[in-house]
This record gives sequence, structure tokens and C-alpha cells, in this order.
Amino acid sequence: MSVVAIDGPSGVGKSSTAKEVARRLGYAYLDTGAMYRAMAWLALSRGVTDPVDVLEQVRGADLEISTDPDEFSVSVDGIDVTEEIRSAEVSENVQTVSSVPDARAELIERQREIIAAATPGIVVEGRDITTVVAPDAPVRILMTARDDVRVARRAKEVHGSADAEAVAATANLVTGRDAKDAATTSFLTAAEGVFTLDTSDLNFEQVVGTVLDLVKDAE
Ligand code: C5P
Repeated sequence: MSVVAIDGPSGVGKSSTAKEVARRLGYAYLDTGAMYRAMAWLALSRGVTDPVDVLEQVRGADLEISTDPDEFSVSVDGIDVTEEIRSAEVSENVQTVSSVPDARAELIERQREIIAAATPGIVVEGRDITTVVAPDAPVRILMTARDDVRVARRAKEVHGSADAEAVAATANLVTGRDAKDAATTSFLTAAEGVFTLDTSDLNFEQVVGTVLDLVKDAE
């Protein structure tokens, strides 16, 4: 079983790249950010903020996540939250969960179970996949891009355009979340043995092609 581990900040294009690589290789796909988001949605819906309560909630939650790159879905306690986890409210509050070390440990355990069960391979994306979740993965990549490029990409995704207004509305959301995430996970620089893929001046096909080449080289 082969694992392709991809980390990187928000708006760098991890999800679309990881999904496409999984499709082309016939691999499963795991969006670990969606797991943190689903738990954050639950915390928000219950008004839970205390780390002790967050941990208890994560331990008790029935979290189901699809690993099919063509049909993504995530549910908590039987409620489909696939759409809800992309809301600005969840993005702004996701660290209520991701900053709690014991809650991370729980989710990391589940991620490792999913990875171990995947055949013939799996592409996993997040912030700590190359360093903590799957440090032994044969392919480990840190995707990066200049701040202005990431903000423009996320603005297009959220607002459908990267005009000045959309960029202004997105900038703090992207760089602010990264700064907070960097306090918990180390994804701003590549760990030893991790390939840095700067996507600032590459198109989608070039990024996917580079990842596929790295997979081939590792075989
Ligand atoms: O990747 P995405 O932007 O959907 O991740 C949402 C949030 O989940 C991140 O901002 C971060 O707080 C958390 N996360 C994490 N570790 C991961 C994946 C995501 O802490 N492996």
C-alpha cells in the first residue's frame, strides 16, 4: 500500500491536486482538514469551546468520511455536513478543535486507521501528514505558493473572482488562519526528506504532473 502525503497552507491548491492525483492513480483520497472542520461544526452547533469538552466531543463523535476522490462527503453522528464545513464560520472556528493536542491525537489515530485500510494506495492532505501522521510515506510533499497567489486562488474559490474587493475580503482569512495553524503544526517549511513544491508559477496540470513524477520515482 502506497501513501502520498501532501501538506501545505490554505489556498495552496492541496485539495484539487490531491484529488486529481488520487483519481489518476486509482487511489483513495483523505482530506484531513475536513475531519477537523466536521468536529468544529459540531462544536459550533453545540456551543462547545472548552478544550476538555472539545476532546470529549471528538472522542464520542461518529465521524464518517468518504475516501472516494469523485464523491466527497463527511458526516457527524449521521448528519451530512459536507456543505456546512466549508462555511466562513467553520473556517474561522476550526482551531477550537485543531489547537487541542489530545483532540488532534484522536483524529490522527482515525486518520492512520483509514490510511492502513486503503488499497492500493491513498493520497492524504493536511498540515502534519508528512511529519506526524505518515512520516514514513514513500512520497512526502510540501506545497507552497506566495501569499498573493494563495489569496487570489481562495478568493476565486469563495467569491468566484479575484478582483480587489474579493481579495480584500479573503486576505485575512487565509494568512490569519495559517499564522494560527503554524502555532500547532509545522507546515511552513519542509521537514527533512520532504519535497517542496512551489506552485506559484505553475498551472494545475504542471503541479499534478510533478506529483505524479515523484510517485513514479518512488516506485
Ligand atoms: O485543509 P483545510 O483548510 O480544510 O483545514 C482546515 C483546518 O484544519 C486548518 O486550518 C487546521 O486548523 C486544521 N488542520 C490541521 N491538521 C491537518 C489538517 C487540517 O490542524 N492535518
